[in-house]
Amino acid sequence: MTASDRDAIERVAAAVAAARSITALTGAGVSSASGVPTFRGEDGLWKKVRVETLATREAFENDPRLVWEWYDWRRSLIRNAQPNAAHHVLAAWTRTRGATLITQNVDGLHERAGAERLIRLHGSIWHVRCWNRCHAGRADWLDDRVPMGALPPRCPHCGGMVRPSVVWFGEPLDQSLLDRARAAAACDVFLTVGTSSVVYPAAGLIPDAKAAGALVVEINPDATGTSHMADLTLRMSAADALTQINEHLTSSKATC
Ligand code: OAD
Repeated sequence: MTASDRDAIERVAAAVAAARSITALTGAGVSSASGVPTFRGEDGLWKKVRVETLATREAFENDPRLVWEWYDWRRSLIRNAQPNAAHHVLAAWTRTRGATLITQNVDGLHERAGAERLIRLHGSIWHVRCWNRCHAGRADWLDDRVPMGALPPRCPHCGGMVRPSVVWFGEPLDQSLLDRARAAAACDVFLTVGTSSVVYPAAGLIPDAKAAGALVVEINPDATGTSHMADLTLRMSAADALTQINEHLTSSKATC
């Protein structure tokens, strides 16, 4: 670690210690140390398959079984993954510092690490809902079977197909979640962790935070679409950076 990395870690720790409100926006990079592939990295999911064939309404209409096979594979991979240090530190901050977590991840690893105050912008891979939005199956429900069984799974209410309760490309986000996320972006310290910041509206929370006067901290080994907005940048893995920031916080209680 360079002297400037050490300096940045100390400055982030001091800012977190002094902050009245902390918000973190997370993306796939947070889960990569748990063995869950990112979307746009070298081994990213979108390097192997085209988004349009798997993560759109049209894809599901064309071939629901193929789409479900992909989700079934991802669910089995995630089921065997464990939250890593980045999930644990962020979860601890939600409990002890009142931090809000906004995640684009659908894997449920923040929840498994015990995160509170979590806004899941892109849904959950563990929830499903009726494709037909039948009267009885209007809301989504938990179905965490791995493997799912016969594909596509069927709605227990109307017998139609069910779909993963995630946001696909071209679909709007839940407006009430987006409103909550935008409100949380107006904070003292806003961390953007493990996201390429190219997918909107989530990436728009970073300029929102900046405009609201937050100190914006980017944690990512690589540059992103919003790196130029960061006040402090940590070019390292989420697990390393958050562990080190947390060690500073716990070892220098006087400044907390
Ligand atoms: P991406 O795959 O676009 O970006 C992952 C980011 O994590 C990259 O910027 C990497 O440099 C970084 N990264 C990789 N390993 C890391 C590590 N150990 N620590 C920290 N950062 C690391 O994933 P997202 O930005 O989450 O949307 O993608 C946003 C959305 O696009 C996803 O929610 C998904 C996807 O298509 C939907 O499915 C709607």
